[in-house]
Amino acid sequence: MGINVALDGPSGAGKSTIAKMAAGKLGFVYVDTGAMYRTIAYYVIDKGIEPDDTEAVIKALDGISIELKNEGTQQVFLNGENVSGLIRTPEISMGASKVSAIPKVREFLLDMQKDIAKKNDVIMDGRDIGTVVLPDAQVKIFLTASAEERAKRRFKELQEKGDTSTFEEVLADINQRDYNDTHREIAPLKQAEDAVVVDSSSLTLEQTADEIIKIITEKTAKKKERKVRELMPVHPISKERKYSRVKLVFYTILRYIVMGLYHIYYNISFEGTENVPKDGGNVFASNHRSYQDPVFIAIKTRVPLSYMAKEELFKQNVFFTALIKFFGAFPVSRGKGDTAVIDTAIEKLEMGRNLVIFPEGTRSKDGKVGAGKTGVALVAAVAQTRIVPVGIVFEGKLGFRKKVVIKYGRPVTPAEIGVTGTDPRSLKKLKLKIMEEITKLVY
Ligand code: DC
Repeated sequence: MGINVALDGPSGAGKSTIAKMAAGKLGFVYVDTGAMYRTIAYYVIDKGIEPDDTEAVIKALDGISIELKNEGTQQVFLNGENVSGLIRTPEISMGASKVSAIPKVREFLLDMQKDIAKKNDVIMDGRDIGTVVLPDAQVKIFLTASAEERAKRRFKELQEKGDTSTFEEVLADINQRDYNDTHREIAPLKQAEDAVVVDSSSLTLEQTADEIIKIITEKTAKKKERKVRELMPVHPISKERKYSRVKLVFYTILRYIVMGLYHIYYNISFEGTENVPKDGGNVFASNHRSYQDPVFIAIKTRVPLSYMAKEELFKQNVFFTALIKFFGAFPVSRGKGDTAVIDTAIEKLEMGRNLVIFPEGTRSKDGKVGAGKTGVALVAAVAQTRIVPVGIVFEGKLGFRKKVVIKYGRPVTPAEIGVTGTDPRSLKKLKLKIMEEITKLVY
C-alpha cells in the first residue's frame, strides 16, 4: 500500500483545490471521488432519468464506465468521453448528492477507489474516505468551514463562470446538500474518529493548504521513523573469559554435587548436550515448567548462569532471597515494560554469565508451550549473542524419581536469521524463531 491520505468534508469546504495543491507539492496522486458521483449523475440526467429514481439509476450503471486520468490535472472520462468540464453545474451537484445515497452506486465505485489507493500514494477527497473507503489511511483530515463561508466561495466561483444563481440559491443548495450527505443511510458524511479537523472558515486557500501539507508531512514522517525505530542500541557483548579459575572451580564442584543429588532424586536425562556452549555470555531460552528449571539447565552449563525471576520471589524472606541471588536470580517486575531489567540482563551476559530466560513469562501447568514475550529477543538482539533453545519435558507434577528430560537445541544467532537491529519487526522475527525452536524440542 502506498501512503493514503483521506480528506473528507462537506461540499464547498475547498477539498478539491486544497487536495490538488497538496498532491502536487507532495508528488501524490489526487483522486476526486466526488467527480465519480458527478459523472454518474451526469449520465443518468443526460438519459432523462431522475437521480433519485433508485431502480432506474441502478439499471443505468451497466452502461457506465468511468476512468480517471492524470493529464496534469485529474480528468474524468465517461465511456471514453472527457466529461470533466460538464459535471460542475449546480444541477449535476444536486444530482450527485442524490445518486450517492444509493447503496449500489457506492458499491459500484468502492472497488475502483480502493484499487487506486492500493497502487499509489494518494490524497483522496470525498465524504466517506476515512470511514469507509480507506479506514486504514495513515492520514485522515476532515476539512470543514461554515455554510455561509462555503456558499460565498461557491457563489464567487459560479459568477466567474457566468452562472446566474443568486447567493441565497447557492446557500440553500449547500444547506440542502449538507443535509442529504449527512442524513443518508449509507456512508453518510461523518468525521472519522481519528481524523484531524481543519476549519478553513477564516483561512485563505494557501493557509489551509499549508496546514494540510504540514499535517500530512508530520504524520507520514512519523510513520517512516517508527518503521525503523530501534528499541535499544545494539551493543555486541565481548566474549573474553571473565571468570577467575577459583570461582569456576568452586562453581564446578557445586554443580557436580547438585548434579549427583538431582540424579538421585529425579530420573533425569539430558539430550543435545553437544549444543551447550563451553563459554558464557549465551542466552538459554527455555519453556517453563517448574521452579527447578534454572537448576535443570545449569547442570550442563560450565559457567554460572543468571536468570530473571519474578519480583515477588525476592520478597519472601531474607534467606530465600540471598539463596536465589547467589544462584544468579535477579528481579523482574512483570507486565510493566521494565526496561532496567534488560540492562541488568545485558550486564550479566557482559560479566560472562549465561542467561536463562523463560520467554513465556510464566510456568505452564499442562506442558504446552505458550506465546513468547519479546524480552528474550530484545536481550539477544542487543547483545548479538547465541541463543540456546531448551525444552524441559516431564508429565504431570515433579516429584521423587520423576522422569525429566532436558533437551538443548542447536544455538541460533540473531545475525544468522538477518536480525542485526532491535526494530519491532526484527524482534518479532527473532522471538518467533526462538519459540519455534523451543516448541520443536518439547513436542
Ligand atoms: O465533492 P463533490 O461536491 O464533488 O461531491 C459531489 C457529491 O457526491 C456530494 O454531494 C456527495 C457525493 N459524494 C459522496 O457521497 N461520497 C464521496 N466520497 C464523494 C462525494
